[in-house]
Order: sequence, then structure tokens, then C-alpha cells
Amino acid sequence: MGMSVTISVAVQDDAEQILKLQYLCYQSEAELYGDWAIDPLTQTLDSIRDELAEHCVLVARLGGEVVGSVRGWVDDAGVARLGRLVVHPRMQGHGLGSRLLQGVEQRLAAAGRVSAYRLFTGHRSLGNLRLYRRLGYVETGVEEVSRSLSLVTLEKPAAPVGAAPVGARSLAASA
Ligand SMILES: CC(C)(COP(=O)(O)OP(=O)(O)OC[C@H]1O[C@@H](n2cnc3c(N)ncnc32)[C@H](O)[C@@H]1OP(=O)(O)O)[C@@H](O)C(=O)NCCC(=O)NCCS
Repeated sequence: MGMSVTISVAVQDDAEQILKLQYLCYQSEAELYGDWAIDPLTQTLDSIRDELAEHCVLVARLGGEVVGSVRGWVDDAGVARLGRLVVHPRMQGHGLGSRLLQGVEQRLAAAGRVSAYRLFTGHRSLGNLRLYRRLGYVETGVEEVSRSLSLVTLEKPAAPVGAAPVGARSLAASA
């Protein structure tokens, strides 16, 4: 039987693997915009280490290999800012990106007050836009960064405090 992928909170020792994976995964985005100086490709190891200390960083592991990651933190207004969602190219298209995003949403909500989740992607990244819309995000703004890149911001309201998960609600309704 094959190994299964597990999702957990990243530790400092994961920093190098996360950076390498990020570098690999964002090549397709760089190609799409003809820009290899985008933030995920120029981020330093120290900066990743800082994020590991201050933010909620999740990794997906297959055995000892980091095959996916996502990061998030909650701002003063209670908005969870999510980003750097990556899945190894050979593992894409099987739901792991969705699991990671939902995983970081849940962990941030469990850790404190979250009013909404916010993330962004480039206007040409149609796959990313589809993924985010499928998970309940709606576009709230577009900002032109350069002639070739506009950033699309998407947001989703957090479930009200005390709301039961959808599965639990329908079970209660049928009881
Ligand atoms: C964005 C990214 C993390 C998505 O990861 P992923 O694991 O492929 O995501 P998912 O598998 O959840 O969804 C991707 C597609 O697989 C499909 N899928 C999910 N589970 C599936 C399954 N079990 N069987 C078949 N298809 C499935 C989804 O429906 C989706 O299809 P679509 O593209 O037609 O909408 C990945 O493509 C990536 O690393 N991209 C490069 C970096 C990047 O752009 N990051 C985001 C920056 S904002």
C-alpha cells in the first residue's frame, strides 16, 4: 500500500524544504507572467524562518518529503490573510491544495477570532481562481501591479461563532 499524505503544523527544520518547494511550484506562475522576480521566488530562507516563528504554516508530508504548504496569519481587524499555497507538481489535481487551504482556515479560526479569510492571486491564474471560488471565496478587488500582472483579491466570510459544521447541521436536521 502507498504512503498517505499527512497535514501538520510546520517546524523550523522544514524551512529549507518549504523554500525549495515554493521555488519549484511558482515556476509555472513566473512563466505565466514572464516575471521571475515575483515575491515567492525571491524570498530568503531567513524570511521563511521568521514566518515559521510568527505565522501559522502548514506542511503536507509524504514520508519525510514536504509536498505541500500554506501560510496564514490574522490581522488586527480579524481578517485571516492566507497565501503561499503550494503543492508539488507531481501531486497536483488530487485535492491536496484544497485540503491545505481548508486546514489553515480551520486552524486560524480555532486559535482566535476570525471575521473573514482573504487571499489573492494573479489575474491570469485561472486554475487558482477556480480553486478559490469553489471553496467559497468571492472577488473583492483587482489591483494592477504592472502591465502584465493584476492581483485579484478574494474573500470569504468566516462562519459565525458557535455555528455547527455543515455535516453536523444536516445530521441534526435529519435526527
Ligand atoms: C494552486 C495549487 C496549490 C493547487 O493545488 P492542487 O493540489 O492541485 O489543488 P486541488 O487538487 O485541490 O485542485 C486542483 C484541481 O484538481 C481537481 N481535483 C481535486 N481533487 C480531485 C480528485 N480527487 N480527482 C480529480 N480532480 C481533482 C480540482 O477540482 C481542481 O480542478 P480545476 O483546476 O479544474 O478547478 C497548485 O496548483 C500549485 O502549487 N500551483 C503553483 C503555485 C501557485 O500558484 N499557488 C497559488 C498562488 S495564489
